[in-house]
Amino acid sequence: MPTRRSVLKGAAASAALPVAGCGGSSTMASYTALTEEIREPLAADADLMECVRFATLAANSHNTQPWRFDLSANKVAILPDLARRTPAVDPDDHHLHASLGCAAENLLIAARACGLHGAVEARADGAVAIAFDAGRPEATDLFAAIPKRQCTRSDYSGRAVTGSDLALLEQAAAGDGIRLVFLLEKPRIENVLEYVLSANTAQMDDDAFMSELKHWLRFNEAQALAARDGLFSACSGNPTLPGWLVPLVFPFAFTTSAENDRYAAQIRSSSGIAVFISARDDRAHWIEAGRSFQRFALKATALGIAHAFVNQPVEVPASRSEFASWLGLGAEERPDFIVRFGYAPPLPMSLRRDVRDILV
Ligand SMILES: Cc1cc2nc3c(=O)[nH]c(=O)nc-3n(C[C@H](O)[C@H](O)[C@H](O)COP(=O)(O)O)c2cc1C
Repeated sequence: MPTRRSVLKGAAASAALPVAGCGGSSTMASYTALTEEIREPLAADADLMECVRFATLAANSHNTQPWRFDLSANKVAILPDLARRTPAVDPDDHHLHASLGCAAENLLIAARACGLHGAVEARADGAVAIAFDAGRPEATDLFAAIPKRQCTRSDYSGRAVTGSDLALLEQAAAGDGIRLVFLLEKPRIENVLEYVLSANTAQMDDDAFMSELKHWLRFNEAQALAARDGLFSACSGNPTLPGWLVPLVFPFAFTTSAENDRYAAQIRSSSGIAVFISARDDRAHWIEAGRSFQRFALKATALGIAHAFVNQPVEVPASRSEFASWLGLGAEERPDFIVRFGYAPPLPMSLRRDVRDILV
């Protein structure tokens, strides 16, 4: 998908305007304080309700947080929140169910650190049900990485990831019916870039896609703090803008060619690309793919490796089938996500809604 995040860098530059957000540094301080509060460490004896806070720190498409949590004794059901669908970018709800998988994985890892071992079931109604039993507390490096993980949407340093770290990433991502393909050679990465640029252009030409994306963009701290969801420009390393300025600059500043240049620089500066592939194209596999991605992302974080999605070619249906044949996938396989990785300093963290607002 295009810019989810880069909109305002171009906007500010082309309009040659000062780019202070509403409220200035005190609002940014409130923003940062809230990102830290929602990521406070879990106590060793935390209960399932506390673990839900860690579940919500998972990656999720457009930061819609498309979930509700139903807690009872030793069970948690993560329900799809269909009011938070994004039908333009995700017409079959693939990303929505994958996001539930990401949250389920965080919940399993956090609960295990607190002595609760979970077993997952993908329910026919689209929910992910987890039943917990008491067990030995196991706080892994993936657990420690939960509050530090982020999608880092910036240029990377170009430094290669070592073979032993690639093996650790692959091992962490291993999942039932999911496989990972690494693309590390420059010509292969250039091929992926071509798919990204072509699908990005198609998305930016699509009014429904653009209007849905704008709905989830947060252009300044005040907007981000009010909603506690969506894509805040600072999380992509971009300047913030007062709300009144947005309609004046957005249509002129956000161009396909600037976005494509930006993706080219980001992909070319990455060490490699990982493609996540489901053996079958159904909800149970999409959830597993989300779980697999989340483990990959947490292991990457633990190893000091940054990551970000470049999913455009798997989001536009026509591109997805071309991309799948280029990869040589089997007829029943689906390429779920395309993730670039490498080395870069972190950007500001994203927000999440209050846990009390997402309980059933
Ligand atoms: C299924 C799925 C698809 C996503 N697709 C994209 C994407 O194409 N481009 C992108 O920049 N981020 C993508 N994201 C990342 C989310 O936007 C990100 O997780 C969310 O904004 C929260 O930010 P954080 O992961 O840094 O906490 C995707 C996440 C998921 C789980």
